[in-house]
Amino acid sequence: MNTSAKPRFWTTKMYNRLSRYYDAFMRTLFPAGEKGRKRVVEKMSTGRVLDVACGTGTLLELAARKGISCFGIDISDGMLEIAKSKRMDAEIINASYYDIPYPDNQFDYVVATNALSGGYIEPEKVLSEMIRVCKVGGEVFITEWPKAREDTFTERLIVWLASFSDDAPKDYEAIFRTLGYIPEIEKLEKRYYLYGIKKKLMA
Ligand SMILES: C[S@@+](CC[C@H](N)C(=O)[O-])C[C@H]1O[C@@H](n2cnc3c(N)ncnc32)[C@H](O)[C@@H]1O
Repeated sequence: MNTSAKPRFWTTKMYNRLSRYYDAFMRTLFPAGEKGRKRVVEKMSTGRVLDVACGTGTLLELAARKGISCFGIDISDGMLEIAKSKRMDAEIINASYYDIPYPDNQFDYVVATNALSGGYIEPEKVLSEMIRVCKVGGEVFITEWPKAREDTFTERLIVWLASFSDDAPKDYEAIFRTLGYIPEIEKLEKRYYLYGIKKKLMA
């Protein structure tokens, strides 16, 4: 796996420590992330969802209320503990999105919100795993901050500033294309997008 030369900030230890405050942190400092989760759940109708990097389980809680069968994985025990304390009807386990412990073609929806922007993360590997466990005809959704889409000075400045942190906006559209998919893209906020694909049978 790629490792950034910079020390990592968003480590599992950090998520373990932050877990108790994560929901409040998101609500106050990052309402766009909340909007992303809600929009993804609006896109679901019925069936089974796997939330990859489910964190404190907020998305699964919303999906469970809609009667969707919920599954979540994450590698932070702290975040998983908060998710389980919400007592929604869901199977939530400690596992990595690089090696999802489910057989092929299991889920109607496989989603990852606010989870793939770290500079050390290899999103093509994660997306390939997500697509593997999604049923043919099922949907994969992510919400993320892409590399600049409008080539303005401000956009380029944001990308440059992000290069000094753990955050590293990526060209998710290009990454989906390398996996054989052209994603539908919905702009949710300035520089915050939802990407969706429907799994097809590959030759
Ligand atoms: C910013 S939080 C996003 C949580 C949630 N999806 C949300 O929308 O708020 C990123 C999550 O990714 C998890 N994570 C990091 N590396 C992971 C890995 N290899 N496999 C699964 N989850 C991972 C972290 O533990 C953390 O809970």
